[in-house]
Amino acid sequence: MRLKRKDLLGIEELSSEEIELILETAASMKEVSEREIKKVPTLRGKTIINLFYEPSTRTRTSFEIAAKRMSADAINISLSASSVVKGETLKDTALNLEAMNPDCIVVRHSVSGTPRMLAGYLSSTVINAGDGSHEHPSQALLDMMTVKEKLGRIKGVKLTIVGDIAHSRVARSNIYGFTKLGAVVTVCGPKTMLPPGIEALGCKATTDMQGAIKDADVIMMLRIQLERQKESLFPSTREYARLYGLDPVKLEKAPKDVIILHPGPINRGVEISPEVADGPWSLILNQVTNGVAVRMALFYLLLGGIKEEFS
Ligand code: CP
Repeated sequence: MRLKRKDLLGIEELSSEEIELILETAASMKEVSEREIKKVPTLRGKTIINLFYEPSTRTRTSFEIAAKRMSADAINISLSASSVVKGETLKDTALNLEAMNPDCIVVRHSVSGTPRMLAGYLSSTVINAGDGSHEHPSQALLDMMTVKEKLGRIKGVKLTIVGDIAHSRVARSNIYGFTKLGAVVTVCGPKTMLPPGIEALGCKATTDMQGAIKDADVIMMLRIQLERQKESLFPSTREYARLYGLDPVKLEKAPKDVIILHPGPINRGVEISPEVADGPWSLILNQVTNGVAVRMALFYLLLGGIKEEFS
């Protein structure tokens, strides 16, 4: 089984059928990580390069673990360890890496559109691991997997995303993904963090946190992306936490069985209090676990893994 595309650059371009296929495949891949011997020969002989030009803990590690659990060879390259610091262009770096015949290059970059640009030059599969404020498709897929696993469905689920929507690639990918599968998505934050016209992506937008969470099945909290803000978008971190940070008092306004997601890294005491992050509503670490399964599914579906060798 394969996705009929060379690259995975964003959720926007995926059909609902493709998303469902990835989620179903990830659900069956998850079991491999629960075995004593966490390895299958499915991608034996394949080479995967992780090219990360921005910091990452979860995404880079889980792409590497996913590749290794499927017996592919995984190589990691970071900005500081690449010849870009000696003046080489990204295009030259990518062409030189491709000259070594990898099967897949996983790219994270601070500039939106970088994975698409590289996909145009390269015959290897390119997977977007987060590009600027544009998209973070594998994150949205693991978020959808986590909600589906917990609630048994995505259709009709009410998802509220709170925080720095303007700079969030996670918000954008999740709006595309959840709405394609029939969820009702609301984005919430201070006016300075809500991009004008965001409703055109199929979501509602509001500055009213209490109203946004009162009927939510799922609340996704986002970090303030200080590294992408050209100017301060709120008076102080304390003010932001008071108005938009999720703590037990605000959570009382949400349904009792609401679930809380956060893509990480979390800033405790800013957008989420420790009591909420570590509390019974939180599926934050389940998201991380599902990240490995989703990335195994992506490699399998894009690189043509052999199903018989999966068990
Ligand atoms: N969620 C996410 O992208 O985390 P990292 O930046 O640690 O990869």
